[in-house]
Amino acid sequence: MDVLETVRWREGTVRILDQTLLPGREVYRELAAVDEVVDAIRTLAVRGAPAIGVAGALGVALAARTLTGEKVCDHATFLRHLRIEVDRITAARPTAVNLGWACGRVMKRLEDLESSGPFAGAGPAAAGVEALREEALAEAQRILEEDLELSAAMARHGAALLPEEGRVISHCNTGGLATAGGGTALSAVFEATRQGKRIFVHVDETRPLLQGARLTSWELRRAGIPYAVHCDGAAAWLMKTRTIAAVLVGADRIAANGDTANKVGTLSLALAAREYGVPFYVVAPFSSFDLSLPSGCEIPIEERSEEEIRRWGGVAVTPDDAPAWNPAFDVTDARLISAWVTERGVGRPPFSDARMR
Ligand code: MRU
Repeated sequence: MDVLETVRWREGTVRILDQTLLPGREVYRELAAVDEVVDAIRTLAVRGAPAIGVAGALGVALAARTLTGEKVCDHATFLRHLRIEVDRITAARPTAVNLGWACGRVMKRLEDLESSGPFAGAGPAAAGVEALREEALAEAQRILEEDLELSAAMARHGAALLPEEGRVISHCNTGGLATAGGGTALSAVFEATRQGKRIFVHVDETRPLLQGARLTSWELRRAGIPYAVHCDGAAAWLMKTRTIAAVLVGADRIAANGDTANKVGTLSLALAAREYGVPFYVVAPFSSFDLSLPSGCEIPIEERSEEEIRRWGGVAVTPDDAPAWNPAFDVTDARLISAWVTERGVGRPPFSDARMR
């Protein structure tokens, strides 16, 4: 199956598949300004932790090309203005560590080059800035290429955990739409299916923005994998009444003790999985780990507009003035997680397993 071109660099723009329009319409947008990249990340036109990391990194490359005039009069001024753009992109969504990690990596590459490499010291500013611009794009492209490889490795390790035949529960969207490559948790299902395993996917619809109903089912249908969508509230009943081989989720940020932030509803799934003896696997690249945070208590949780709860597709689903609360993520305690699957392998509790470091 072809890898989705969820986010790519195309002729001086960041090209994304607009996920707000799926599954109805498959529309690609070319983002030519940093404001458009920030807006696409905020509105979830591009979404999923690794995908927003790649979009952010490409956004930094775009920012580097679009800074002009006084802002590029010398290397230091250029980098100072670029840092402002990096902060703006990183602030678009606070929970997924991948966004700040990827933007920061591009920035650090340029700062290292400027202070110690071929750009240090004298030389025509314009030529140096141009070289830094090229390097920003090269580093962002490296992040994208690595993401493709990471997805493939996570897929292999995750698929090995799945039986020859069985049912799994998926939450939010963790497929190709959530990364530049084949996905995180859902990539394990794609790989298992490719190996001939017969996996049925129970898809949490994932209120309020329906990433499961709209996006995961779109990807599974495209891949010819059998699935059924259910309301989020049905997941515990599903685990109680059917044999479920595993719950497979992604992660937006994993703290140093293994506490894992992911799409809101993940904690309820983990609690039900523990109660009914269902293995609960987190599949995420190592870039989703934030070992600077001791526990999940320190992970910033994005709170989104109340309107996302009150309306769907322009139609009110509550009284117009209903007070609402809309945390986009929650944090699952490490003790509820059976294993963390990364590109490096499968780490089981305790979280200090060597492979995690
Ligand atoms: O708000 P979203 O759609 O960006 O949330 C995405 C998730 O919660 C995913 O599960 C997570 O990013 C990990 S999968 C790549």
